[in-house]
Amino acid sequence: MTGRIPIFITGVTGYIGGTLLNRLLNHPDANTFDITALVRNSEKARILESKFGVKTLIASHAEHDRIEEAVAANHVILHIADSDDEPLNKAILRGLKRRHDTTGDLPILIHTSGTGLLTDNARGEYATETIYSDLNIEQIKSIPPTAFHRNVDLLVIGADEEGYARTHIVLPSTVYGIAAHPLVEAGISNPYSMQIPLLIRSSLARKRAGVIGKGLSLWPSVHIDDRLSRGTLFTVADMYIVLLDSILHHPDTTGHGWEGLYFGESGEHRWLDISLAIGRAMYELGLADSPDPTPFSHEEILKYFGNEWFGYYHGTNSRARADRARALGWKPTHSTEDMLASIKPELEVYAKKQ
Ligand SMILES: NC(=O)c1ccc[n+]([C@@H]2O[C@H](COP(=O)([O-])OP(=O)(O)OC[C@H]3O[C@@H](n4cnc5c(N)ncnc54)[C@H](OP(=O)(O)O)[C@@H]3O)[C@@H](O)[C@H]2O)c1
Repeated sequence: MTGRIPIFITGVTGYIGGTLLNRLLNHPDANTFDITALVRNSEKARILESKFGVKTLIASHAEHDRIEEAVAANHVILHIADSDDEPLNKAILRGLKRRHDTTGDLPILIHTSGTGLLTDNARGEYATETIYSDLNIEQIKSIPPTAFHRNVDLLVIGADEEGYARTHIVLPSTVYGIAAHPLVEAGISNPYSMQIPLLIRSSLARKRAGVIGKGLSLWPSVHIDDRLSRGTLFTVADMYIVLLDSILHHPDTTGHGWEGLYFGESGEHRWLDISLAIGRAMYELGLADSPDPTPFSHEEILKYFGNEWFGYYHGTNSRARADRARALGWKPTHSTEDMLASIKPELEVYAKKQ
């Protein structure tokens, strides 16, 4: 490809997408990128354009025709917003096909899914023995079409099989840490993740750490982004960068399609370990009478998680090994201990907001 590489990115006002956009803006090859970000808030779009030099498409995910058109105008699509919006993802795939059919280009998609794909119905009662490796294609293919995220993931893989795009899927696990970078400071991007903050907020609300069932089920985790403090490649944002660099510089040896699923993990925890860390922090800060977590009741699950399925999701097993990204040169060094140590400072932030 001659000239700058046109890149279209979604989710930049979010936690992962904002961190990734910051990385792209600071990439050694940043001057070869021509970035357009989808944003629905016009004020954030104005700041992105004026302060960060990022072009914007002001649109919501429901504007499928405009998204299809924007996708068709770009060689690389980084979709970091909503893994499960099937109509949105179909619009993205139509845009890729249109680009291929009209220009002959083989566009690149990096879609974001999640290790929620691997979850069971353990409800915190046991740890499974089953561990998924993203290098084990037969094991990956054996995941049922009814699994969480699978409907969209199969569409994305199908596009690669049809041959009109090279598709890749990043599957982050529990992403943790408070994102701190200029896009957060400018009020554009969300600095907070999902799972741990939800457990923290619900525990603060009930004045006691909560856990789903016995909390014995296992999940992986991965840090969002603090390369500046540790000086190496090991966060989930780096994983996207390592993958993008590999796609751009070594397209024929970078796994795509069925060989293009990339789990994001650098450690594994029991849900109980998170609840114990929340309980300890609350007790030390005088926010609970006891450090010991208690199980969320059925009523609490509905109250704090919105519905039963999402509540029990926080007691599932999801065991994954990020073997494929490591093989590309991604070197995560954060451990489960780092994740657990991140909980107290994050809890202090939420306690102040109460
Ligand atoms: N965080 C994790 O631990 C984790 C783990 C595994 C997978 N994931 C997946 O990764 C993706 C990104 O997660 P995240 O933590 O970065 O989420 P987030 O902080 O909530 O960001 C979501 C992004 O999507 C945008 N968005 C949502 N609905 C939209 C709509 N209708 N129109 C336009 N924009 C819309 C949001 O824009 P606004 O700012 O305008 O709302 C925001 O930029 C999600 O699909 C999530 O399921 C996350």
